[in-house]
Order: sequence, then structure tokens, then C-alpha cells
Amino acid sequence: MTEPIHDAAALRARLAKESAIAFVPTMGNLHEGHVSLVRQAREHGRCVVASIFVNPLQFGPNEDFDKYPRTLDADCAKLEGLADVVFAPSVAEMYPVPQQIFVEPPPVAAELCGAFRPGHFRGVTTVVLKLFNLVQPQAAVFGKKDYQQFFILKEMARQLNLPIVLIGAETRRAEDGLALSSRNGYLSAGERAEATRLYRTLSRLREALQDGERDFSRLEASARAGLEGAGWRVDYVSVRSADTLLAPLPGETRLVVLAAAWLGGTRLIDNVEATL
Ligand code: PAF
Repeated sequence: MTEPIHDAAALRARLAKESAIAFVPTMGNLHEGHVSLVRQAREHGRCVVASIFVNPLQFGPNEDFDKYPRTLDADCAKLEGLADVVFAPSVAEMYPVPQQIFVEPPPVAAELCGAFRPGHFRGVTTVVLKLFNLVQPQAAVFGKKDYQQFFILKEMARQLNLPIVLIGAETRRAEDGLALSSRNGYLSAGERAEATRLYRTLSRLREALQDGERDFSRLEASARAGLEGAGWRVDYVSVRSADTLLAPLPGETRLVVLAAAWLGGTRLIDNVEATL
């Protein structure tokens, strides 16, 4: 099992002589999706660092910070032979004083997931910049399941001139299509079977786009109605430009369809990209 490093000073000492670090930030409870990010990181650096930190700053007061699964030993076992360094700081190590300086994300952070999780992306950008400063990687790998998060982090790197290449990795799915997520573990057996509807719905919407349908509102409304009819509570289903995450301009050909919806007490997100 890879022994985790818990404090920042020890991390600095361990990484002092490394010159080509590839980094995978995670919140732990690792599944095949994370493992594939760590494998990809190997292609982008000589030293692979994974972090495991459930970041309180990105959870709202009524969200699942307390119940978020913490499985450090199992995570370190999964990273054995894949990551050279595992950084697993405590909350006090990451936030020794109350955080008063934040990375303010762009306006699109208030849309889609941001409209339902106020402050979430500010918490993400802030912790990721702190982790980048601690690890000082040349490359970092993120899953595209969190498409909006990846978009905002790329914008952060670009607008703040970070000398780090951000790599977006394809979403890993279970055989029945469900995007892998630590939150899938909250689903009951019945909900787990139903959960595949989200990807099916998005895939059908993508087919309609590829068949030439351009009434995005109608497509979004019909996807929403299908999910609601099956008992889901839908936060959003939205067709966006893959390049700006804004509403697509006429003639745009690179689109992404994003959704977030609740199945019982579990909020699932997914997206599919569509090139027209
Ligand atoms: O995607 C996640 O797991 C988290 O948002 C991240 C990027 C590790 C920041 O806490």
C-alpha cells in the first residue's frame, strides 16, 4: 500500500527533486474512473502525485460533506504501483487559518451546477489552486464527467497564467452506461437500476441533435419530462456550446449536453459531447 503523506512540509521535501510531476486531485473513494485518470497521468510526467482531500469549501451547508465516503486505506491500496506519491492532508493542514482569499470563478460558474450549488466552484478553484501550489505539477488530469468543473479550471489556468497543462479524461462508465461516481454508492439497488436512465436520456438527446433537431428548448423539456415521469427531480438538462459552455450560437458544431438530477437523496450528473 502506498503510504500517504499528510503534511505540506513533508510533501514539499518529497517532491523537491522532482521536475516533471503529473497530478490527479481527487476526493478519494476511488473507483475505476479515478484509476484511469492516474494511469493517464503517467503519460504526462515522470512522478505521479494523487491527492485525496474532501474539501469542505466546495460543499454547501446542506450537502453531503459529512457523509461523503472516506476510504483512505482502500484508496492507497488502489494507488499502489500507479501513483508515486499520495497526498492526503487534513482539513487543518489545508486550511490552517480560515480561508479568506478565494479564486473567483467566471460567471458561467453561477450557471448549471453553480445555480444549484452556490459557492461550489469557488471552493473548487480555490482548493485546486492551493493543491497546484503545493504539488507544483507540470500537468494535471481531471475527469470530463465534471465537464463544468474542468471548463472552469481550464479557464483558471489560462487566465491566471498557470504553467500547468490541464488534461480532460473521458468519462468511465459501468457496462450499463452509468457514469462512475463515488456518489453511486449512495444508491439503493432499485435506484442503481433506474440510474442508467440519465445516460440513456442524454444519448437520445444527442442522437436527435445529430439527426438535425435544433429546437434545444424542446429537446431539454422532453428529456426533463422523461426523467420526471420516472420519478427523478431534475435540476437541469441543458444543451451548451462545448467551447464556451454558454447557449450555442447558431451554426455551432461542438455541443455538450449536461444534466444534473436527483434520484431519491442522490444527486447525479452526467454529460455527452455532440459534434454536429
Ligand atoms: O472533482 C473532484 O473530485 C474535486 O472537485 C476536486 C477537483 C478534487 C477538488 O476538490
